[in-house]
Amino acid sequence: MLPALQTVIPGPESLRLAADLRVHESRNVTYMDESWPVFWERAEGTNVWDADGNRFLDLTSAFGVAGLGHRHPEIVAALHSQADTLLHGMGDVHPTALKGQLCRALSEITYGRWNGTTGKVVLSNSGFESVETALKTARLATGKKGIVAFTAGYHGLGYGSLLGTDLPKFQGPFGDQLAPITTRLPFGGSEIDQLDGSDIGAVLVEPIQGRGGKVIPPADFLPRLREWCDRNGALLIFDEIYTGFHRTGKTFACEWDQVVPDLICLGKALSSGFPISACVGKSTVMDAWPQSTGEALHTSTFLGHPVGCAMALKSLEILQRPETAEMVAEKGAYLGEKLKSLGKARGRGLMWGLELPENAGALLGSLLKDGLLMLADGPEGNVLSFTPPFTISEEEIDFTIERVSAHLKSPRV
Ligand SMILES: Cc1ncc(COP(=O)(O)O)c(C=O)c1O
Repeated sequence: MLPALQTVIPGPESLRLAADLRVHESRNVTYMDESWPVFWERAEGTNVWDADGNRFLDLTSAFGVAGLGHRHPEIVAALHSQADTLLHGMGDVHPTALKGQLCRALSEITYGRWNGTTGKVVLSNSGFESVETALKTARLATGKKGIVAFTAGYHGLGYGSLLGTDLPKFQGPFGDQLAPITTRLPFGGSEIDQLDGSDIGAVLVEPIQGRGGKVIPPADFLPRLREWCDRNGALLIFDEIYTGFHRTGKTFACEWDQVVPDLICLGKALSSGFPISACVGKSTVMDAWPQSTGEALHTSTFLGHPVGCAMALKSLEILQRPETAEMVAEKGAYLGEKLKSLGKARGRGLMWGLELPENAGALLGSLLKDGLLMLADGPEGNVLSFTPPFTISEEEIDFTIERVSAHLKSPRV
């Protein structure tokens, strides 16, 4: 549904809530200015309503989580039915049947589909935790401590995942607390061919960069990394937290180049709205973890949360229906075509970026006033990001393009 014509954004209730939040939340967390933020109250499909009753069109899928649309009825039903029986389990001690079902489903959708083998899983809560699980696995499996990561990569903000992330503002004050074990190479390049791999245990990469600006590497990039890892005894880790589950038009972005990783990190759209993530690895690699003798070496209180597992299982089922892939292909082609008519656009499936001459920040407030929830990416914040729910209509795409185009012609309204 198209946004209703907005008049005052943020409205009085959002302003009141912002004033209250400012008193009680760390000032670093929520950005606030005269045009930002609005407070979300409810959502359905491609629409979000704020606390003042304004209706918006969500071009972000809420950080890429709601690919199937906000509050998909089958996923809401799975959540309700699980909440009626068990709200929390004991993940690594007395688990639920759902945890086993989800691990099996994740094995089948990755290594099962790729090469008929079995993958093994460590579940976690946020995306960055699955990256840290993968880095620990590489250390155990190879005995080597070094990692290779790439320019403009984003892997999350925990101390471990910051070893991979390359947006210097995030390392900032914490840089001198991070072990100097990262070799940073240009994303998409062939520099790895010259690298001595004797102390490199992991190569961590997004098959298509998300927050780095929707950057697709040359077709020989991932195969080169695969070949280098095989030659040097390092593990290839694909971070598909953003790109996974059809976002780029394939179940996983690595399928565009038909390269199979040793470990894959998943999160965001996995459950369509519950904080759950997973590191899935080749079983031979994952068996580098020792057998538990009573206490897991790596776990957390909410690991394998039953509500998250129930929602993830339902999401995986819906994601694998042929109509999901069809929707992404169809809408993605339509959106891509329109974006290219606006300027320098790049992307795949329903993950697109439009490169602007300058930081897109000012534009985001104006777009919000038009009813468009949007974000900017790229190291300079100059890539306008388009990652809508797969259910977006052509009419909604047309509206978005028309509004973006108007602002590009007369910016900073
Ligand atoms: C590719 C990638 N990896 C890791 C993360 C971190 O995930 P989370 O914010 O859930 O920790 C993100 C989040 O945007 C991401 O895009």
